[in-house]
Amino acid sequence: MVPALTQPGELLCEHRGEMAEAARQIRVRDLKEKKRRGEKIAMLTVYDATMARLLDRAGIDVFLVGDSLGMVIQGHETTLPVTLEAILHHTEAVTRGTKRALVVADMPFLSYQVSVPEAVRNAGRLIQGGAAAVKLEGGRPILEVVERLVDAGIPVMGHLGLLPQHVHELSGYRMQAREPREAERLIEDARMLETAGAFSLVLESIPADVAKTVTGVLSIPTIGIGAGPYCDGQVLVSYDAFGLNVDSVPPFVRQYADLGELMVEAARAYAEDVRQGKFPPLECHASTPAASDMRK
Ligand code: KIV
Repeated sequence: MVPALTQPGELLCEHRGEMAEAARQIRVRDLKEKKRRGEKIAMLTVYDATMARLLDRAGIDVFLVGDSLGMVIQGHETTLPVTLEAILHHTEAVTRGTKRALVVADMPFLSYQVSVPEAVRNAGRLIQGGAAAVKLEGGRPILEVVERLVDAGIPVMGHLGLLPQHVHELSGYRMQAREPREAERLIEDARMLETAGAFSLVLESIPADVAKTVTGVLSIPTIGIGAGPYCDGQVLVSYDAFGLNVDSVPPFVRQYADLGELMVEAARAYAEDVRQGKFPPLECHASTPAASDMRK
């Protein structure tokens, strides 16, 4: 059938509708919708308000306040020393800078493993801090926690495959689910997390074909990191993606910019100007009328 001719006003309305849709705050339900429509989900880790403002402008769908902040922000060797207070502090900062993206806060080591009531209280604090959802590592051992969080109205993102909070048990950061039995167990865990009420699932460092199977059997979206191209979305640690991480970066990371090198060059240029007396010029001094407005 030939569609009726569109009036110019209708086109304008449609365009406005698309713009409003692009600006609208993303909710957990939207991620499931994206999977249904075959639209990929772009997620990055974010740790502060400035970065949140910039990445919101870029249209990133999900901001993860990851416990990776223990490594990239705090300089630890692992994520294990990260406290609930630290995640809360960064979650509050990120939500202040976010208008559109869905903010997910990571539950750090020992904040959900000790008891179910403690897990609910701790997750609740992250939601009170502005997160729209929390992320937990693990499969069947945490199913009861997931159910209780969902019952309490707290959306849960699961995380299977390489679990950084299990680094000692796993004897390092290595690819998981390579053996058929391990892969089967992971697929079962994924189904169980979906049944327990998780709204999406991070798959970290597993073979692409296992991630493909999980993505095919679940109706909730999968978000891959080092898990190949078949997931419903992808996540990267932003410091790795932007070249800000000076330590070792996992081989699956694509570096989209070298901001680290740009910062070093900018800092060198600044130091040089200061040492040569080129900065500040006299006209920037606050006693001149033009410079009296401090923040413009
Ligand atoms: O903490 C984190 O950054 C994460 C991602 C690697 C998924 O959990």
